[in-house]
Amino acid sequence: MSSSSPPPRPDDDDGAQEVGASDGRSLGYGEAEYWDARYVEEGGAPYDWYQRYDALRPFVRCFAPPASRILMVGCGSALMSEDMVTDGYVEIVNIDISSVVIEMMRKKYFDVPQLQYLRMDVRDMSMFPDESFDCAIDKGTLDSLMCGVDAPLSAAQMILEVDRLLKPGGTFILITYGDPSVRMPHLNQSACDWKVVLYILPRPVFTGKITRRVLDPVPLTERGRLPDGFVPEDPDSHYVYVCKKMQGLTGTGSPTVNHIERPAVT
Ligand SMILES: C[S@@+](CC[C@H](N)C(=O)[O-])C[C@H]1O[C@@H](n2cnc3c(N)ncnc32)[C@H](O)[C@@H]1O
Repeated sequence: MSSSSPPPRPDDDDGAQEVGASDGRSLGYGEAEYWDARYVEEGGAPYDWYQRYDALRPFVRCFAPPASRILMVGCGSALMSEDMVTDGYVEIVNIDISSVVIEMMRKKYFDVPQLQYLRMDVRDMSMFPDESFDCAIDKGTLDSLMCGVDAPLSAAQMILEVDRLLKPGGTFILITYGDPSVRMPHLNQSACDWKVVLYILPRPVFTGKITRRVLDPVPLTERGRLPDGFVPEDPDSHYVYVCKKMQGLTGTGSPTVNHIERPAVT
């Protein structure tokens, strides 16, 4: 993929685009300038990375009821938030580092009171008070930061900010191409007390047989890794980490994996 070609859509034959999966840091995915230029070039065309809301709906509905106050980080030009409003969500605060895309989205949704768009760096969301969201969702922003300079520091800052903004018992839903060996170290940082449950979604273009049901968690080892010999049906699957903030809840212990209850999807 080059920065001048239109991004393939998740349902294109050549599959969903992956942030830095092949061509990495040189494209500047970690830089605001890269994204501003890209959104100018795309002229405001909507684009959802990795997965559309219909595929993610089971997770979102399970772990964030429609009355939740939602923080959508690195929203880009995705239709995800609009689709969630159509599905009954009442308050979604979208942030992105690109002033270009934020301006475009503000204009597009000026008459949708459920959607708010703010230009903000996910590493410093000090404009928001502590514990002001029930749920935060990220699809592709952490992956972008991992392509930038000081990637580990950026990732740590983002995770700490998301943790700070979640209410006790709140949920962070992370959709990424990063498997547990590269994402769990960030999610398990010592300052956070999260229970993490992992799910795997095949790419929208994958046509092979899937035996796992969408809300069947994937077991993780004590160290937060995939079990030996575990191979996803789609080798380029997307990973959905559902992280519940335990800090501030009574009767909780240290961070654990795979312990989130499974409510019914409504
Ligand atoms: C791969 S795109 C994903 C867009 C959207 N979430 C989606 O699913 O289609 C990554 C987005 O993260 C934004 N981004 C990158 N670094 C950021 C940062 N430090 N703070 C906030 N947003 C950032 C980019 O501007 C871009 O819109």
